[in-house]
Amino acid sequence: MSGTMVVSNRGPLTFRAAPDGALVPVRAAGGLASSLHRILAGSGTTWASVTLGAADRAAVAQGLMHEDGLDLLPVVIDDDTYRQAYDVVANTTLWYCHHHLFDLPHRPRFDRHWRAAWEGYRVYNRAMADVVAARAGEGDTVFVQDYHFSLLGRMLAEARPDLRAVHFLHTPFAAPDMLAVLPDDVRAELLDGMAGYAACGFHCHQWEAGFAACYAAAGRPAPRTFVAPLGPDPDALETEAASPRCAAATAALRVEVGGRRIIARTDRMEPSKNIVRGMLAFEELLTTHPEWRGQVVHVASAYPSRQGLAEYLAYAADVEHTAERINHAFGDEGWTPIMLSVEDDWARSLAALTLSDVLLVNPVRDGLNLVAKEGPLLNSADGVLVLSHQAGAWDELALSGGGALGINPFDVAGTADTLHAALSMDAPERKARAAALRGAVRGRTAADWWADQLVAAQG
Ligand code: F6P
Repeated sequence: MSGTMVVSNRGPLTFRAAPDGALVPVRAAGGLASSLHRILAGSGTTWASVTLGAADRAAVAQGLMHEDGLDLLPVVIDDDTYRQAYDVVANTTLWYCHHHLFDLPHRPRFDRHWRAAWEGYRVYNRAMADVVAARAGEGDTVFVQDYHFSLLGRMLAEARPDLRAVHFLHTPFAAPDMLAVLPDDVRAELLDGMAGYAACGFHCHQWEAGFAACYAAAGRPAPRTFVAPLGPDPDALETEAASPRCAAATAALRVEVGGRRIIARTDRMEPSKNIVRGMLAFEELLTTHPEWRGQVVHVASAYPSRQGLAEYLAYAADVEHTAERINHAFGDEGWTPIMLSVEDDWARSLAALTLSDVLLVNPVRDGLNLVAKEGPLLNSADGVLVLSHQAGAWDELALSGGGALGINPFDVAGTADTLHAALSMDAPERKARAAALRGAVRGRTAADWWADQLVAAQG
C-alpha cells in the first residue's frame, strides 16, 4: 500500500542552544507548522523538514530529532545554503513577489550575489529531493508546503516518476506582471519546477487564477490546481483559550483596558500585515470622530517573525515608532490609545481576540489569514470583523455571507470610516454578523483542509 509524506521548511520540532550549550527542544508554534502538527499528530506520517541552524544539526547528530507518533525526517542544510535559500530567495524574493511587496524603484536587485543565492535555493531543493527520493515508498504521495520548494516538483518528477507530489501554497501567488520582475530564466525555472507537481493548491480562487495566468503568460500549460482554504481547529483553540494561562491573560487585559471599547489585531510582525496603515486608520478615527477619544483602545499584538531579515526589522521599527507617535499625540495619563505588544505572547493575543469589539485584519495581501477565522470563533463580545479584500479568507468570510465588513487595505480614510461603522453598529446587527461568521468558520476546519489534499492527490 502506498503511503504519504509531508515536506515543509519548518518542521514540528526545532532546537535552540541554551547558554550552557544544552539543546532545548522548541515545538512549532503558530501558523502552518502547528496546524499541520495537530493534523498529523499520532499518525506516524513521515515529515521531512530542514534543519534551521547549528542547534538542529547538533540535535540530528545526537539522535534527538524525534517525536512520538511521527516519523521525522530531517534534511541537514549548512548555514550558508540555508541563508541563501530561506533569507534571500524564499523570504526576500519569492515571498515579496507573491505578496506584491517589492519597492520597485529600489528592489529587487538581481546581481551576482543574488545569483549565488538562487544557486543555494537549487541546492536546498535538491537536498530535499534527494532525501525524499531515497525514503519514499513505491507510489507514495508527497505533500509539499510552500514557496520554499518551488523547484522540488520537477526534481521529484525526474528522480521518482512513481511518486505523486502535491504542492500547497500558503501565500498568495504573484500576478503575471509581478512574476515578470524575476529574471526570465529564473521565472521559467520556477514555473517549470511547479509544473512537475501533480497538483498545486491555494487558499482561494484569486491566487489560483494568478497562478494560471502566469502559465498562460509564459505560453505553457499549468499543472492541475485546486482551492482548499485552511480552517482552525476549533476544539484545540477553545481548549487553549479556556486554559488558566489564557484566563489570567484575559482578566489582566480587561483591567488594562478599563472598560473601553477594543479594536484588536494580532499578527506576525510582517510587512504584508499592514500594521502601520492600521494604526494610521485608528489615528484618523480619533481625528475625524473625536467622540471616540478616551473611549477606545487599539490592542495590537505583533509577534516577532524572521528577525534575521533587515526588511522585517525596519518594518518593526516603523510599527513601534508609529504607535509611540500616535500615543504621544493623543494619549493622556489615563489613556494609552495604542496598546502595542511586540512579544510572542499567545495568551494575550487570544485574550484580545476574545474581548475585542472590532477585529482589524487589513493585510496588503495575505494567503489566507487564519486570525480572521480564529477571532470570530473565540470572541465573546459579538465583535465585528473588519477584513481586507486582499486576505485569502475574504471570499469565505464576507462574499459568501460570512458577515465581515470589507476594506481596501491601502485606503486609510476608508478603513477609519469602517472602524467607526463597526464601533457604532447596533447590537442586533453585531449579533447577526458574529453568528454568520462563526457559522462560516465552523463549517470548515483544518481537518477539511487536509481531507482536500488527500482528494487532490487522487486527481
Ligand atoms: O506568513 C505565512 C507564511 O509565509 C507561510 O506561508 C509559511 O509557511 C510560514 O509563514 C513560514 O514561516 P517561517 O518562515 O517563520 O517558518
